[in-house]
Amino acid sequence: MAAVTADQTTQGTAGTAEEAEAAHLATFDAAVAADDRIEPRDWMPEAYRASLVRQMAQHAHSEIIGMQPEANWISRAPSLRRKAILMAKVQDEAGHGLYLYSAAETLGTSREELLDKLHAGRQRYSSIFNYPTLTWADVGAIGWLVDGAAITNQVPLCRCSYGPYARAMVRICKEESFHQRQGYELLLALSHGTPAQHEMAQDAVNRWWWPSLMMFGPPDDASAHSAQSMAWKIKRHSNDELRRRFVDICVPQAQVLGLSLPDPDIRWNEKLGQHDYGAIDWTEFQEVLKGNGPCNEQRLTQRRKAHEEGAWVRDAAAAYADKHSARPGTAGAAAQPVEATA
Ligand SMILES: [Fe+2]
Ligand SMILES: [Fe+2]
Repeated sequence: MAAVTADQTTQGTAGTAEEAEAAHLATFDAAVAADDRIEPRDWMPEAYRASLVRQMAQHAHSEIIGMQPEANWISRAPSLRRKAILMAKVQDEAGHGLYLYSAAETLGTSREELLDKLHAGRQRYSSIFNYPTLTWADVGAIGWLVDGAAITNQVPLCRCSYGPYARAMVRICKEESFHQRQGYELLLALSHGTPAQHEMAQDAVNRWWWPSLMMFGPPDDASAHSAQSMAWKIKRHSNDELRRRFVDICVPQAQVLGLSLPDPDIRWNEKLGQHDYGAIDWTEFQEVLKGNGPCNEQRLTQRRKAHEEGAWVRDAAAAYADKHSARPGTAGAAAQPVEATA
C-alpha cells in the first residue's frame, strides 16, 4: 500500500464527510419517495427544516391571531347556545396553536423564539385575519368559508412528510370540520330567518368570499415556495388546484344556503369538470400582506398586549414546575441534600 500523505489524509476526511452527507441525503430522499415520515431525530436537509419552521410557525400564528375576530362576538352572541358553541370554537383555535408550536419545537426552535418573531412582525400569519368582523353573520361566514378553506388546505397536510406536523393536522382537521359545520348551520338559520337576517348573511358572504379564495396563496406561477414544498411532499397540491377544489365545494353549498357567491364569472367548465371563477384582486392581497389591511395593526397590538398580560401566568407555571420538580420523592428531589427530604 502506498504511503498516505498529509494532503491525502485531509482530502480523505473531507471526502468522508461529503460521502456521509450524500448518504444521509439519499436516505432522506428515499424516505420521502416511499411516503415514509421524517421524524425529529432523523437527518434532514437544513432547507427542509427551515421551510417547515417557516410554514408551521405561520400556521400556529394564524391559529392564535384567528381567535381575535371571532372572540369579538362572544359577548354579543344571540343565545346561550350560540355563545357556548363560539367559546368552544375559539378555544379549539388556541389548542391548534399549541399543537403546532409544540410540533415546531421538535425542529429545534422554541415557542418563545417564534412568538418573539410574530410580535416583531418578522413572521406572518394568514392575511384573512386582518379583516374585521362587522356583524354576527361574520361568525357564520368565517366558519363556513375561512374554516372551510383551511380544511381544503389542511387535509392534504395530514399526509405531509414531516411526522409531527402530519399528526397534529389529523386532530386539527377533525376540529376544523366541526367549525365549518357550525358556521354553515349559523348561516342557514340566518338565511332562512327574517329578511334583515338574510341580508346580513348575504353581506357577510360578500365580504368574506374573496379573502377566503386568497387564503390558498398566490397563483402557482407566482408562488415562491410551492415547487420545493411539493418535491419534499410537505405540500401535495398546488395553490390553484386547492382553490378550484374549494370553489367546487362552495357552489352547491351556497345554493342550499339560499345565498349567492359575489362572483358573476363562476360557471361550470364542462371540459375541466370543475368551476371557473373570476379574477382575484391580488393587489389587495399584497397590500394586506404588507400590513395595510383593515386590522393588521389592531391584531398585532392585541396579541402583544395579551402576551404581556399573560406573563404572570407563564411565571407562575414555571415556578410551579420548579417547585414540583424539587418536591421529595420526585426525580428533582434526588439532587437535594438528605436533610431537605427528612
Ligand atoms: Fe384552527
Ligand atoms: Fe377553525
